[in-house]
Amino acid sequence: MTDKNDLRQLIDRLHTEHTLAKDEWTALISGRTPELSEYLFSLARKEQKRHYGTTVYIRGLIEFTNYCKNDCFYCGIRRSNIHARRYRLSEEEILSCCRTGYSLGFRTFVLQGGEDGSYNDERMVRLINSIKEQYPDCALTLSIGEKSRESYQRYFDAGADRYLLRHETADFSHYERLHPASLSAKKRQECLWNLKEIGYQTGTGFMVGSPFQKAEHLAEDMLFIRKLNPHMVGIGPFIPHHDTPFANKSAGTSELTLFMLGLLRLMLPQVLLPATTALGTISGNGRELGILAGANVVMPNLSPTDVRKNYSLYDNKLCTGEESAECRHRLEKRMESIGYQIVTARGDSPL
Ligand code: 5AD
Repeated sequence: MTDKNDLRQLIDRLHTEHTLAKDEWTALISGRTPELSEYLFSLARKEQKRHYGTTVYIRGLIEFTNYCKNDCFYCGIRRSNIHARRYRLSEEEILSCCRTGYSLGFRTFVLQGGEDGSYNDERMVRLINSIKEQYPDCALTLSIGEKSRESYQRYFDAGADRYLLRHETADFSHYERLHPASLSAKKRQECLWNLKEIGYQTGTGFMVGSPFQKAEHLAEDMLFIRKLNPHMVGIGPFIPHHDTPFANKSAGTSELTLFMLGLLRLMLPQVLLPATTALGTISGNGRELGILAGANVVMPNLSPTDVRKNYSLYDNKLCTGEESAECRHRLEKRMESIGYQIVTARGDSPL
Protein backbone atom coordinates (compact mmCIF):
# COMPACT_ATOMS: atom_id res chain seq x y z
CA MET A 1 0.00 0.00 0.00
CA THR A 2 2.97 2.34 -0.41
CA ASP A 3 2.86 2.54 -4.17
CA LYS A 4 2.26 6.07 -5.44
CA ASN A 5 -0.73 5.05 -7.54
CA ASP A 6 -2.26 3.30 -4.57
CA LEU A 7 -1.92 6.43 -2.47
CA ARG A 8 -3.49 8.51 -5.23
CA GLN A 9 -6.37 6.07 -5.25
CA LEU A 10 -6.74 6.47 -1.51
CA ILE A 11 -7.08 10.21 -1.99
CA ASP A 12 -9.71 9.62 -4.68
CA ARG A 13 -11.63 7.30 -2.40
CA LEU A 14 -11.41 9.79 0.46
CA HIS A 15 -12.80 12.39 -1.94
CA THR A 16 -15.83 10.28 -2.85
CA GLU A 17 -16.46 8.34 0.36
CA HIS A 18 -15.13 10.81 2.95
CA THR A 19 -13.58 8.10 5.05
CA LEU A 20 -10.63 5.70 5.21
CA ALA A 21 -9.59 2.86 7.51
CA LYS A 22 -6.90 3.47 10.11
CA ASP A 23 -4.10 1.69 8.22
CA GLU A 24 -5.05 3.58 5.07
CA TRP A 25 -4.81 6.93 6.86
CA THR A 26 -1.43 5.88 8.24
CA ALA A 27 -0.14 4.79 4.81
CA LEU A 28 -1.34 7.99 3.17
CA ILE A 29 0.13 10.27 5.83
CA SER A 30 3.48 8.53 6.04
CA GLY A 31 3.79 7.97 2.28
CA ARG A 32 2.97 11.53 1.22
CA THR A 33 5.08 13.21 -1.47
CA PRO A 34 5.06 16.74 -2.90
CA GLU A 35 3.19 15.45 -5.97
CA LEU A 36 0.53 13.73 -3.88
CA SER A 37 0.16 16.87 -1.78
CA GLU A 38 -0.44 18.99 -4.87
CA TYR A 39 -3.05 16.51 -6.06
CA LEU A 40 -4.71 16.50 -2.62
CA PHE A 41 -4.76 20.32 -2.47
CA SER A 42 -6.36 20.59 -5.92
CA LEU A 43 -9.24 18.35 -4.79
CA ALA A 44 -9.45 20.14 -1.44
CA ARG A 45 -9.79 23.50 -3.22
CA LYS A 46 -12.53 22.03 -5.39
CA GLU A 47 -14.52 21.12 -2.27
CA GLN A 48 -13.71 24.41 -0.55
CA LYS A 49 -14.98 26.33 -3.60
CA ARG A 50 -18.06 24.14 -3.96
CA HIS A 51 -19.19 25.01 -0.45
CA TYR A 52 -17.67 28.41 0.20
CA GLY A 53 -16.62 29.85 -3.15
CA THR A 54 -13.53 32.00 -2.73
CA THR A 55 -14.68 33.62 0.51
CA VAL A 56 -12.66 33.51 3.69
CA TYR A 57 -14.36 34.09 7.05
CA ILE A 58 -12.68 36.14 9.75
CA ARG A 59 -12.96 35.71 13.52
CA GLY A 60 -11.79 38.30 16.01
CA LEU A 61 -9.72 36.51 18.64
CA ILE A 62 -9.74 38.04 22.12
CA GLU A 63 -7.19 36.37 24.40
CA PHE A 64 -8.72 37.63 27.61
CA THR A 65 -6.71 35.82 30.28
CA ASN A 66 -3.46 33.88 30.36
CA TYR A 67 -3.96 32.56 33.89
CA CYS A 68 -4.29 28.79 33.70
CA LYS A 69 -4.69 26.09 36.32
CA ASN A 70 -3.41 23.41 33.94
CA ASP A 71 0.15 22.35 33.33
CA CYS A 72 0.25 21.00 29.76
CA PHE A 73 3.85 20.18 28.90
CA TYR A 74 3.79 22.02 25.57
CA CYS A 75 2.09 25.24 26.54
CA GLY A 76 3.82 28.51 27.40
CA ILE A 77 1.05 29.68 29.74
CA ARG A 78 1.11 26.47 31.80
CA ARG A 79 0.71 26.95 35.53
CA SER A 80 4.35 26.10 36.33
CA ASN A 81 5.78 28.73 34.03
CA ILE A 82 6.79 31.34 36.59
CA HIS A 83 8.22 33.53 33.84
CA ALA A 84 4.86 34.04 32.14
CA ARG A 85 3.60 37.56 32.73
CA ARG A 86 0.03 36.98 33.79
CA TYR A 87 -2.80 39.29 32.77
CA ARG A 88 -6.54 39.25 32.77
CA LEU A 89 -8.71 41.70 30.83
CA SER A 90 -11.68 43.25 32.59
CA GLU A 91 -15.20 43.02 31.19
CA GLU A 92 -14.88 46.62 30.01
CA GLU A 93 -11.63 45.92 28.23
CA ILE A 94 -13.15 42.91 26.49
CA LEU A 95 -16.17 44.94 25.39
CA SER A 96 -13.85 47.58 24.06
CA CYS A 97 -12.07 44.91 21.96
CA CYS A 98 -15.47 43.95 20.57
CA ARG A 99 -16.21 47.59 19.73
CA THR A 100 -12.97 47.92 17.77
CA GLY A 101 -13.56 44.57 16.13
CA TYR A 102 -17.11 45.39 15.13
CA SER A 103 -16.03 48.58 13.40
CA LEU A 104 -13.37 46.60 11.53
CA GLY A 105 -16.07 44.27 10.18
CA PHE A 106 -15.77 41.33 12.57
CA ARG A 107 -19.06 39.53 13.20
CA THR A 108 -17.60 36.68 15.25
CA PHE A 109 -15.78 37.19 18.53
CA VAL A 110 -13.75 34.37 20.03
CA LEU A 111 -13.14 34.62 23.76
CA GLN A 112 -10.10 32.49 24.40
CA GLY A 113 -8.31 32.05 27.68
CA GLY A 114 -6.53 29.72 30.03
CA GLU A 115 -8.61 27.88 32.62
CA ASP A 116 -8.81 30.87 34.93
CA GLY A 117 -10.91 30.33 38.07
CA SER A 118 -11.35 34.04 38.56
CA TYR A 119 -13.51 34.11 35.45
CA ASN A 120 -16.11 31.89 37.13
CA ASP A 121 -19.46 30.92 35.60
CA GLU A 122 -21.26 33.92 37.00
CA ARG A 123 -18.76 36.31 35.52
CA MET A 124 -18.72 34.46 32.19
CA VAL A 125 -22.51 34.53 31.98
CA ARG A 126 -22.53 38.25 32.67
CA LEU A 127 -19.90 38.81 30.00
CA ILE A 128 -21.74 36.66 27.44
CA ASN A 129 -24.98 38.52 28.19
CA SER A 130 -23.36 41.91 27.69
CA ILE A 131 -21.66 40.98 24.43
CA LYS A 132 -24.80 39.41 22.96
CA GLU A 133 -26.88 42.38 24.10
CA GLN A 134 -24.56 44.92 22.51
CA TYR A 135 -23.80 42.87 19.38
CA PRO A 136 -26.92 40.80 18.65
CA ASP A 137 -25.83 40.28 15.05
CA CYS A 138 -22.53 38.71 16.05
CA ALA A 139 -21.65 35.12 16.84
CA LEU A 140 -19.86 34.46 20.11
CA THR A 141 -17.35 31.64 20.39
CA LEU A 142 -15.87 30.45 23.67
CA SER A 143 -12.53 28.71 24.03
CA ILE A 144 -11.96 28.39 27.76
CA GLY A 145 -11.23 24.72 28.25
CA GLU A 146 -12.81 21.88 30.16
CA LYS A 147 -15.93 22.68 32.21
CA SER A 148 -18.82 20.70 33.62
CA ARG A 149 -21.78 20.02 31.39
CA GLU A 150 -23.83 22.36 33.60
CA SER A 151 -21.39 25.21 33.01
CA TYR A 152 -21.41 24.65 29.26
CA GLN A 153 -25.22 24.70 29.39
CA ARG A 154 -25.23 27.98 31.33
CA TYR A 155 -22.96 29.71 28.80
CA PHE A 156 -25.10 28.38 25.97
CA ASP A 157 -28.31 29.61 27.61
CA ALA A 158 -26.66 33.00 28.08
CA GLY A 159 -26.15 33.19 24.31
CA ALA A 160 -22.79 31.63 23.42
CA ASP A 161 -23.06 30.10 19.95
CA ARG A 162 -19.86 28.16 19.45
CA TYR A 163 -17.13 26.45 21.45
CA LEU A 164 -13.56 25.50 20.55
CA LEU A 165 -11.82 22.73 22.46
CA ARG A 166 -9.04 20.89 20.70
CA HIS A 167 -8.82 17.21 21.58
CA GLU A 168 -5.01 17.70 21.11
CA THR A 169 -4.41 14.01 20.29
CA ALA A 170 -6.93 11.20 20.08
CA ASP A 171 -4.48 8.53 21.20
CA PHE A 172 -4.88 8.00 24.95
CA SER A 173 -1.26 7.10 25.70
CA HIS A 174 0.08 9.88 23.48
CA TYR A 175 -2.20 12.27 25.36
CA GLU A 176 -0.58 11.14 28.61
CA ARG A 177 2.85 12.03 27.30
CA LEU A 178 1.75 15.61 26.58
CA HIS A 179 -0.22 16.28 29.76
CA PRO A 180 0.05 15.86 33.52
CA ALA A 181 -1.87 13.00 35.16
CA SER A 182 -4.68 15.36 36.18
CA LEU A 183 -5.79 15.61 32.55
CA SER A 184 -7.08 12.79 30.38
CA ALA A 185 -8.08 12.27 26.77
CA LYS A 186 -11.26 10.57 27.95
CA LYS A 187 -12.39 13.61 29.92
CA ARG A 188 -11.46 15.89 27.03
CA GLN A 189 -13.51 13.89 24.57
CA GLU A 190 -16.47 13.74 26.96
CA CYS A 191 -16.45 17.53 27.06
CA LEU A 192 -16.65 17.62 23.27
CA TRP A 193 -19.62 15.27 23.16
CA ASN A 194 -21.37 17.38 25.80
CA LEU A 195 -20.76 20.56 23.81
CA LYS A 196 -22.24 19.00 20.69
CA GLU A 197 -25.24 17.63 22.53
CA ILE A 198 -26.00 20.99 24.10
CA GLY A 199 -26.16 22.48 20.62
CA TYR A 200 -22.95 24.47 20.23
CA GLN A 201 -21.29 24.75 16.85
CA THR A 202 -18.34 22.78 18.10
CA GLY A 203 -14.70 22.89 17.11
CA THR A 204 -11.98 20.42 17.91
CA GLY A 205 -8.44 19.98 16.62
CA PHE A 206 -4.91 18.84 17.28
CA MET A 207 -1.28 19.86 17.06
CA VAL A 208 0.74 18.59 14.13
CA GLY A 209 4.20 17.29 14.93
CA SER A 210 3.78 17.35 18.70
CA PRO A 211 6.48 15.42 20.57
CA PHE A 212 6.22 11.60 20.23
CA GLN A 213 3.55 11.89 17.53
CA LYS A 214 3.49 9.10 14.92
CA ALA A 215 1.50 8.80 11.69
CA GLU A 216 -0.72 6.29 13.54
CA HIS A 217 -1.69 8.99 16.02
CA LEU A 218 -2.71 11.33 13.23
CA ALA A 219 -4.72 8.45 11.76
CA GLU A 220 -6.54 8.18 15.09
CA ASP A 221 -7.13 11.93 15.07
CA MET A 222 -8.84 11.60 11.69
CA LEU A 223 -11.00 8.72 12.92
CA PHE A 224 -11.98 10.58 16.07
CA ILE A 225 -12.86 13.73 14.13
CA ARG A 226 -14.87 11.72 11.64
CA LYS A 227 -16.87 10.22 14.52
CA LEU A 228 -17.37 13.51 16.36
CA ASN A 229 -18.28 15.25 13.10
CA PRO A 230 -17.52 18.75 14.44
CA HIS A 231 -18.44 22.03 12.75
CA MET A 232 -14.88 23.35 12.97
CA VAL A 233 -11.39 21.87 13.14
CA GLY A 234 -8.36 23.92 14.22
CA ILE A 235 -4.93 22.46 13.60
CA GLY A 236 -1.47 23.96 13.66
CA PRO A 237 2.14 22.87 14.00
CA PHE A 238 3.54 22.28 17.47
CA ILE A 239 6.08 25.02 18.19
CA PRO A 240 8.34 24.69 21.25
CA HIS A 241 8.21 27.30 24.00
CA HIS A 242 11.51 27.94 25.79
CA ASP A 243 10.00 27.87 29.32
CA THR A 244 8.32 24.45 29.03
CA PRO A 245 9.50 20.84 29.40
CA PHE A 246 9.32 20.60 25.59
CA ALA A 247 11.72 23.51 25.02
CA ASN A 248 14.15 21.29 23.13
CA LYS A 249 11.68 19.28 21.08
CA SER A 250 11.49 19.96 17.37
CA ALA A 251 8.63 21.88 15.84
CA GLY A 252 6.02 20.41 13.54
CA THR A 253 6.29 21.35 9.88
CA SER A 254 4.06 23.48 7.74
CA GLU A 255 4.36 20.78 5.07
CA LEU A 256 2.62 18.13 7.22
CA THR A 257 0.14 20.67 8.60
CA LEU A 258 -0.91 21.61 5.07
CA PHE A 259 -1.29 17.95 4.12
CA MET A 260 -3.55 17.37 7.15
CA LEU A 261 -5.62 20.44 6.21
CA GLY A 262 -6.17 18.98 2.75
CA LEU A 263 -7.21 15.62 4.21
CA LEU A 264 -9.63 17.32 6.60
CA ARG A 265 -11.28 19.26 3.76
CA LEU A 266 -11.90 16.02 1.86
CA MET A 267 -13.11 14.11 4.91
CA LEU A 268 -15.52 16.85 6.07
CA PRO A 269 -16.16 18.95 2.95
CA GLN A 270 -18.27 21.58 4.75
CA VAL A 271 -16.14 21.98 7.84
CA LEU A 272 -14.94 25.42 8.94
CA LEU A 273 -11.18 25.16 8.78
CA PRO A 274 -8.89 27.95 9.99
CA ALA A 275 -5.43 28.66 8.65
CA THR A 276 -4.08 29.18 12.17
CA THR A 277 -1.68 31.65 13.75
CA ALA A 278 0.75 28.80 14.46
CA LEU A 279 0.84 27.97 10.76
CA GLY A 280 1.45 31.65 9.98
CA THR A 281 4.18 31.72 12.63
CA ILE A 282 6.17 28.80 11.31
CA SER A 283 6.06 29.97 7.71
CA GLY A 284 5.80 33.53 6.39
CA ASN A 285 3.01 32.78 3.94
CA GLY A 286 1.65 29.88 5.99
CA ARG A 287 -1.87 31.17 6.14
CA GLU A 288 -2.09 31.75 2.38
CA LEU A 289 -0.78 28.22 1.83
CA GLY A 290 -3.34 27.00 4.36
CA ILE A 291 -6.16 28.54 2.35
CA LEU A 292 -4.73 26.98 -0.81
CA ALA A 293 -4.71 23.59 0.95
CA GLY A 294 -8.42 23.86 1.80
CA ALA A 295 -8.77 26.16 4.83
CA ASN A 296 -11.46 28.88 4.76
CA VAL A 297 -11.11 30.85 8.00
CA VAL A 298 -8.54 33.22 9.52
CA MET A 299 -8.58 34.42 13.10
CA PRO A 300 -6.73 37.72 13.61
CA ASN A 301 -5.97 38.96 17.08
CA LEU A 302 -8.20 41.63 18.63
CA SER A 303 -6.52 41.67 22.05
CA PRO A 304 -5.03 44.99 23.15
CA THR A 305 -1.49 45.27 21.77
CA ASP A 306 0.17 45.68 25.18
CA VAL A 307 -0.99 42.26 26.48
CA ARG A 308 -0.66 40.39 23.20
CA LYS A 309 2.97 39.37 23.70
CA ASN A 310 2.05 37.77 27.02
CA TYR A 311 -0.35 35.29 25.49
CA SER A 312 2.67 33.30 24.56
CA LEU A 313 1.68 29.68 23.92
CA TYR A 314 4.86 29.08 21.89
CA ASP A 315 7.95 31.01 20.82
CA ASN A 316 7.78 33.80 18.21
CA LYS A 317 3.98 33.72 18.08
CA LEU A 318 2.77 36.29 15.57
CA CYS A 319 1.60 39.21 17.61
CA THR A 320 2.38 42.37 15.73
CA GLY A 321 2.01 43.73 12.26
CA GLU A 322 -0.27 41.71 10.11
CA GLU A 323 -1.50 39.62 12.98
CA SER A 324 -3.11 42.70 14.52
CA ALA A 325 -6.70 43.25 13.58
CA GLU A 326 -5.84 46.84 12.70
CA CYS A 327 -4.05 45.28 9.78
CA ARG A 328 -7.18 43.63 8.55
CA HIS A 329 -6.57 45.54 5.37
CA ARG A 330 -3.22 43.87 4.82
CA LEU A 331 -4.69 40.44 5.51
CA GLU A 332 -7.34 41.29 2.95
CA LYS A 333 -4.60 42.08 0.41
CA ARG A 334 -2.80 38.82 1.22
CA MET A 335 -5.99 36.86 0.56
CA GLU A 336 -6.73 38.80 -2.61
CA SER A 337 -3.23 38.01 -3.85
CA ILE A 338 -4.21 34.33 -3.97
CA GLY A 339 -7.70 34.96 -5.35
CA TYR A 340 -9.76 34.89 -2.16
CA GLN A 341 -11.85 37.58 -0.41
CA ILE A 342 -12.37 38.21 3.27
CA VAL A 343 -16.06 38.68 4.08
CA THR A 344 -17.94 40.42 6.86
CA ALA A 345 -20.38 37.71 7.83
CA ARG A 346 -20.96 35.58 10.88
CA GLY A 347 -19.86 32.59 8.85
CA ASP A 348 -21.97 29.97 10.61
CA SER A 349 -21.52 26.32 9.87
CA PRO A 350 -23.81 25.27 7.01
CA LEU A 351 -24.59 22.06 8.92
N1 5AD B 1 2.63 24.93 19.89
C1 5AD B 1 1.53 24.92 19.10
N2 5AD B 1 0.29 25.01 19.58
C2 5AD B 1 0.12 25.10 20.90
N3 5AD B 1 -0.97 25.18 21.65
C3 5AD B 1 -0.61 25.28 22.94
N4 5AD B 1 0.73 25.24 23.05
C4 5AD B 1 1.21 25.13 21.79
C5 5AD B 1 2.51 25.02 21.24
N5 5AD B 1 3.60 25.03 21.99
C6 5AD B 1 -2.32 25.08 21.09
C7 5AD B 1 -3.09 23.93 21.73
C8 5AD B 1 -4.28 24.63 22.36
C9 5AD B 1 -4.37 25.92 21.56
C10 5AD B 1 -5.06 27.04 22.26
O1 5AD B 1 -3.02 26.26 21.32
O2 5AD B 1 -3.53 23.02 20.72
O3 5AD B 1 -5.48 23.90 22.27
